[in-house]
Amino acid sequence: MTRSASHDRTPEPHSPAHHHGHGDHHGHGGGHGHAHTGQDDALLVAVLDLDAEIFAPYLTAVTSRIAELAGGGVSHVVDLGAGTGTGTFALLERFPGARVTAVDSSPEMLALLVERARAKGLGDRVQTLETDAGTGLAGITDADLVWASASLHHVDDPAAALAGVRAALRPGGLAAVAEMDGMPYFLPEAAVADRPGLEARCREALGAVDAEQVPHLGADWGTLLAAAGLAVEHEHTEPLELRPPLPAQVGDYAHLVLGRIRGALEGRADPADLDALSALLDGGPGDVRHREDLVVRSTRELWVARRPADTA
Ligand SMILES: C[S@@+](CC[C@H](N)C(=O)[O-])C[C@H]1O[C@@H](n2cnc3c(N)ncnc32)[C@H](O)[C@@H]1O
Repeated sequence: MTRSASHDRTPEPHSPAHHHGHGDHHGHGGGHGHAHTGQDDALLVAVLDLDAEIFAPYLTAVTSRIAELAGGGVSHVVDLGAGTGTGTFALLERFPGARVTAVDSSPEMLALLVERARAKGLGDRVQTLETDAGTGLAGITDADLVWASASLHHVDDPAAALAGVRAALRPGGLAAVAEMDGMPYFLPEAAVADRPGLEARCREALGAVDAEQVPHLGADWGTLLAAAGLAVEHEHTEPLELRPPLPAQVGDYAHLVLGRIRGALEGRADPADLDALSALLDGGPGDVRHREDLVVRSTRELWVARRPADTA
């Protein structure tokens, strides 16, 4: 077992599963079975793409670690909840001999991903499967790697989803689950002079919304993988922090994320905090898109587990 040294996470309590709402604020949204508006989709695409750009070095490190654990022989990768294809394209690059099956419950996401694959000249290495991955990965039994980033917390029944992951893997194949502690944080403590601790308070209020809408966010995926009959070989918690000078896109990313939080907290947080949040979004002098003191913080977790070779 090659656990990393920084295995120090504290599982968060969560309430029983139920469908998360149409207006999922979460930014990593896109739950199955819900008709999303075009605007929701556009926002999710923008958030996912900004996240991919800003945290690209982290993803490179993660795929490198997975390649070490895989030790070669990766020819079929499944990207569970592929979204805009961040993981799909990173894994196609990491495993040049592999093809990827991109799985998502959103036909719009899959169409966008295919369009991007073709534009990159990778169309022949990508296939898609439109399904609710919470109920299994229809017909796939030969995967060398199933990658699930910021997607498994959306399924209704993680145990059923992981049983599907196990069934999709060949014996000896790997499941890699990447999750994060919700959307990134952006504000320094004193971002708004008369509302110190604004973001921390808003995020605490958001925790109650998350517990209702995405109850499996913060789940202990190591325990769940083991319960599904997969042997956990690697767990790592990475507290990422980006300080100025920051990539130009960070202002836009902060604006999107804080805007979604503002929307989700209407009526659920101190009105003075909501006003302060609005002032960070209104295009005025305090707008996050104009500030130079943002700090991006996000805690990312990775679990890699193997389907035992001695079972059928
Ligand atoms: C936050 S995005 C993550 C996208 C991508 N994995 C990434 O890391 O950028 C979650 C994706 O999972 C998809 N998704 C949510 N629930 C799903 C389910 N039950 N089955 C399949 N896909 C699902 C959403 O449509 C969305 O594209």
